Amino acid sequence: MTFGKNFVWGAATAAYQVEGAAAQDGRGPSVWDAFCRKAGKVAEGDTGDTACDHYHRYREDIAMMRDLGVQAYRFSISWSRVLPEGTGRVNHQGMDFYHRLVDELLRNGIEPYPTLFHWDYPQELYLQGGWLNRDTVEWFGEYAELVGRQLGDRVKNWWTLNEPPCFLGLGHVNGIHAPGLQLDWPDFFLATKHALMAHGRSVQALRATAPQPIAIGYVPISHIGIPADESPENIEAAREFTFGVPTADRTFWYSRLYLDPVVLGEWPEECVRVLTDHGPEVTTEDLALMSQPIERLGLNFYAAPYIRRGADGRPETVALPPGHPRSAFDWPVTPEGLYWSVRFHEERYGLPTMIAENGLSCRDWVSEDGAVHDPQRIDYLSRHLKGLHRADDEGYQIQGYFHWSLMDNFEWAEGYRHRFGLIHVDFATQKRTPKDSAAWYAQVIANNGLSAPKATSTHALVGTRPTLS
Ligand code: NOJ
Repeated sequence: MTFGKNFVWGAATAAYQVEGAAAQDGRGPSVWDAFCRKAGKVAEGDTGDTACDHYHRYREDIAMMRDLGVQAYRFSISWSRVLPEGTGRVNHQGMDFYHRLVDELLRNGIEPYPTLFHWDYPQELYLQGGWLNRDTVEWFGEYAELVGRQLGDRVKNWWTLNEPPCFLGLGHVNGIHAPGLQLDWPDFFLATKHALMAHGRSVQALRATAPQPIAIGYVPISHIGIPADESPENIEAAREFTFGVPTADRTFWYSRLYLDPVVLGEWPEECVRVLTDHGPEVTTEDLALMSQPIERLGLNFYAAPYIRRGADGRPETVALPPGHPRSAFDWPVTPEGLYWSVRFHEERYGLPTMIAENGLSCRDWVSEDGAVHDPQRIDYLSRHLKGLHRADDEGYQIQGYFHWSLMDNFEWAEGYRHRFGLIHVDFATQKRTPKDSAAWYAQVIANNGLSAPKATSTHALVGTRPTLS
C-alpha cells in the first residue's frame, strides 16, 4: 500500500493557533484577539497571545518537521500581522516573518502551502462591517495581492479560505467562535456570499501576481455522510445526505452552500430557502467571481455520521452502538469517511483533492519515561490512511495528506485542553516532545504509505524469519 511518487505528506497549523507574538512587531488585532478577551468565551480564559510561540521558534519547529521527513507545511498567514488595519498600511516587520518562514522551509526541503485566511479576520475591518460589508471582497483581494507579490516567487501552492461554515456559522450564527455574533439567516447568507466572492477575488489576485505556475486550493469543511454499508441504496442515501437539499436542522453545516458556487458557479437557492425566504440576490457576475478556476479542493476530515435510507425514503443517521470509539472532543471515530469524502467530492466536483486536515484530539501528556505515548492517534491515523489508500487504488485523484496538527496548539473556544499534535507542547515552558505518533508518521512518510515498498536492499529483510522446509 503505497502512493504515487508525487504524493505529498504534510503537517498543518494556523497562525492564531500557533504563532503567539500577538502584540509584537506591529501586528494588528484580529477578531480572535478581541473574542478571547470576552469573559466566558474561551475555556479557562485561554488566549492565543503566546500559543506555541511559533513566531520565535519556527526554526526549531521546521527542524523537527525535517527530522520527521515532512515534505510540506500548511500554515496560515495572519492578515492583521501584514496589514494591521486589514487594508492600506503594510507592516513590513510582520511580512518579514513570512519571508523568513518560507525561506527556512525551502532551505529544509519543505514545500510551503500557505492558507490566506484561517479565521483571524482583522478587528479594524470587522468594526467596519466585516463579512457583511461588500467592501470585504476588495479588502481580501488587496491582502491576497500583497502576499502574492511578496511570497509568490517561492510559493507554488496556496489555499484561500479555511472552513467557511466555521468562521461564518460558528462565528456569526451560533456565536461560539469569533466575532461571537448571532445574526439572522438573511445576514448569514449575505456574509457567506461576500466570503465566497472574496475567495474568488483572492484567486484572481494570486494568479495575477504569480511569476510562476501556481496551484490554488480552497478548503471547505468535509461535511459528508458515510454509507452505513455499501449497498447501492445506502451509498445513494449518503450521497443525498451530503449533497441533496438539507433539512432545516442541518443549519449552516452544509457543504453544497460553500462548494457549488465556487466550483460549479451555481448558487444553491433551494438550500437557502430551507432557512429563509430572504436570501441575498446573487447575480451572474457574483457567481463568475466566486467560481474562478482552481486546481484542487482541500478536505478537512475528522468525523461523519453513518447514513442509510430511512423508512420515509429520506437519508437517516444510524445511531452508534454504546461505547463507540470517540476522541477527547467526543467526536466519533469513523475512519471510512476519508475514502467517502475523497470519492463524493471528486464525483461531484471533478477536482483533485488533498486532505488538508485530519487528526485526533487526545488527552496526551508526558509520561514518567519522558515520552508521550499516543497509541490511539496512531490507530486513528492508520485506519484513516487505509481509506485514503483505497481512494488512490480506485483511481481518485488524491494528491496529498496534511496531518492536523504538527503540534498541540490553541484549539479556539476550547483553549489548550485539546491536543491534536504529533509534537507535544508544554505551554508553560514551550518544550516540544515528539509523540510516539510522530515516529510512526515519519515511517509512513518514509514508506510513502502504510507499508514499505518492495524490498530493494537486504536491510529490508532484517527481522524476517527464514522458512523451514
Ligand atoms: C478544523 C480547523 O481548521 C482547525 O483550526 C481546528 O483546530 C481543527 N479543525 C480541529 O478542531
